[in-house]
Amino acid sequence: MAKCAFIGLGVMGYPMAGHLQKAGHSVTVYNRTSSKAEKWAGEFGGSFAETPAKAVEGAEFVFCCVGNDDDLRSVITGPDGALEGMASGSILVDNTTASANVARELYEIAAKQGVSFIDAPVSGGQAGAENGVLTVMCGGDHDAFEKAAPIIDAFARSCKLLGESGSGQLTKMVNQICIAGLVQGLSEAMNFGTKAGLDMTKVIDVISKGAAGSWQMENRGQTMVDGKFDFGFAVDWMRKDLGICLDEAGRNGARLPVTALVDQFYAQVQGRGGNRWDTSSLIHLLAND
Ligand SMILES: NC(=O)c1ccc[n+]([C@@H]2O[C@H](COP(=O)([O-])OP(=O)(O)OC[C@H]3O[C@@H](n4cnc5c(N)ncnc54)[C@H](OP(=O)(O)O)[C@@H]3O)[C@@H](O)[C@H]2O)c1
Repeated sequence: MAKCAFIGLGVMGYPMAGHLQKAGHSVTVYNRTSSKAEKWAGEFGGSFAETPAKAVEGAEFVFCCVGNDDDLRSVITGPDGALEGMASGSILVDNTTASANVARELYEIAAKQGVSFIDAPVSGGQAGAENGVLTVMCGGDHDAFEKAAPIIDAFARSCKLLGESGSGQLTKMVNQICIAGLVQGLSEAMNFGTKAGLDMTKVIDVISKGAAGSWQMENRGQTMVDGKFDFGFAVDWMRKDLGICLDEAGRNGARLPVTALVDQFYAQVQGRGGNRWDTSSLIHLLAND
């Protein structure tokens, strides 16, 4: 069993840190809004600290799940950040969805003090975090990954090393590009079927078992038809992720015409007040134009 720290107790981090503690590891948490850290310690029996630097004292593994690149820099390399307190030989696993560039930057800075940095964004959403069945996409050094993987298993169903530092974030970008185009196609199909007067419950039931089937259709098809978006992965987060994808594509030369268009559709959803709606809310633009 390992001594761990967890920084960032949001929708994802809170249950992920809980799974580490429940697996028998000794976990100290830090959260900017300290009431959440106190609540977490009361619920799971671990301890909490007032700064990232204090939370990581003596930790062999430090996990982090905050919002974006700037948030990550602030809790890792900022004043009282995690790297101030981490010892040589310890491992920093970052579960934030961030850019590949910030992953490489933090990998280099951490290496200078003998700390291994693994970019390890996740997929599976709030339910995946709560049920401890996330998919974890890792980039970094093989030896550090081999040590961290059994610990990550506490909240993961699948955990893979995809390559050198940044590869985890690049894989998450591939994941988000797949989702963007797919959700727009699904929105158009669900809206078309509704306008054609079909019973969409029956339609989804039959076609989800064929070539058009997808996780999105099975889990979101009916709620899209019903106009329910008050759950799931927020449009604001998706726009952050697509921004990262489009930036990276600007560097590697990949064309992302559909992704760029869908990003603009999400901007329109934000304009309708849908910042915290689920990503399936693209259909709102078609059903309520
Ligand atoms: N939600 C999902 O379904 C999902 C799925 C896959 C990946 N992700 C990714 O996972 C990450 C976290 O998502 P989430 O849904 O857990 O977000 P969230 O609920 O908004 O939580 C964000 C966490 O980061 C902390 N934080 C943000 N900025 C900070 C800063 N500058 N300094 C210190 N702490 C800071 C917040 O602290 P406070 O409590 O003080 O605000 C909170 O603990 C994001 O990168 C997201 O894209 C989310």
